[in-house]
Amino acid sequence: MFSQKALLLGASRRPELRRLVTGTPATRRVVDRFVAGETLDGALAVVRQLCGEGIAVTLDHLGEGVTDRAEAVRSRDAYLALLEGLAPLRLGRAAEVSVKLSAFGQALPGGGTDLALELVRPVAEAASAIGTTVTLDMEESATVDSTLAVLAELRRDHPGTGAVLQAALHRTEDDAAALAVPGSRVRLVKGAYDEPPSVAWQSRADVDAAYARCLGVLMRGPGHPMVGSHDPRLISLAQRLADHEGRTPDSWEVQMLYGIRATEQRRLAAEGVCVRAYVPYGADWYGYFMRRLAERPANLRFFLRSLVST
Ligand code: FDA
Repeated sequence: MFSQKALLLGASRRPELRRLVTGTPATRRVVDRFVAGETLDGALAVVRQLCGEGIAVTLDHLGEGVTDRAEAVRSRDAYLALLEGLAPLRLGRAAEVSVKLSAFGQALPGGGTDLALELVRPVAEAASAIGTTVTLDMEESATVDSTLAVLAELRRDHPGTGAVLQAALHRTEDDAAALAVPGSRVRLVKGAYDEPPSVAWQSRADVDAAYARCLGVLMRGPGHPMVGSHDPRLISLAQRLADHEGRTPDSWEVQMLYGIRATEQRRLAAEGVCVRAYVPYGADWYGYFMRRLAERPANLRFFLRSLVST
């Protein structure tokens, strides 16, 4: 018996369903809730608005799982254009970028990790040149070693390069301990992919307990923890741990996705918590959108209702 979540995550990798979903005009209205438009100008308008409200951003040019080198090069170029667009805004670290290495060729046979490193390096350089950083998103569990290897290479020249760790994976407590080092920036998330019991906790309670343990490791360490969650219980735990460890507000942050719990993002920012919104933009929104539907049954119901009400 497949869960609804597993079915939606499976559908996120099916090209024929991608054509069906993205070709339906009603989808657009629901997608707009989660995606800051298809163009760079649209995304920069959202950046100006959020930063004006005291919310930092990390921008994601949507795309993943490229199937040839030319597509991977286009991902690099899209990020270089994004950083060029950010430069005149002079936002420094208030506007970072997040990349998925599978958009940079990580999964291509015969040296995908090397290709991803080669193509993401100029992005890290362009980010450093305008006083900001890159965070490497984390994808399926099979990519974790490759992604952490690219991170280690980038951190030699760009020590502020960030990583994402997924609490759902059994290995993550060890990875968190290894990354709890000075200057390290780690976004801890629950994990958005469907992973087998051999590598990942399966129940919500187990994932939440693992998240709390990993959060403790990161908060006690000397790095900059980035609490990537909308879960009110985990965010208040993070606040308590930060207080207990005597952390200053600029030494850790809460990150949430664009369009999710926006009022709470503003409330926390007004309270003095550093809040950063993850802002995706671009035409290739299908995989990202399907993961958001998989996370919450109410999103799926809302989406299906919008289809029948057109
Ligand atoms: P949980 O799913 O328990 O949600 C708590 C509450 O938040 C819900 O009750 C609801 O109110 C709200 N909420 C959560 N998801 C929602 C949704 N889709 N729509 C509407 N409301 C929602 N994953 C990954 O594997 N690799 C990565 O690189 C990243 N990167 C990333 C960046 C940032 C900034 C965030 C916030 C999240 C990610 N994720 C991710 C996704 C993450 O793994 C996870 O799937 C989601 O954050 C949902 O988990 P929560 O911790 O929010 O808790």
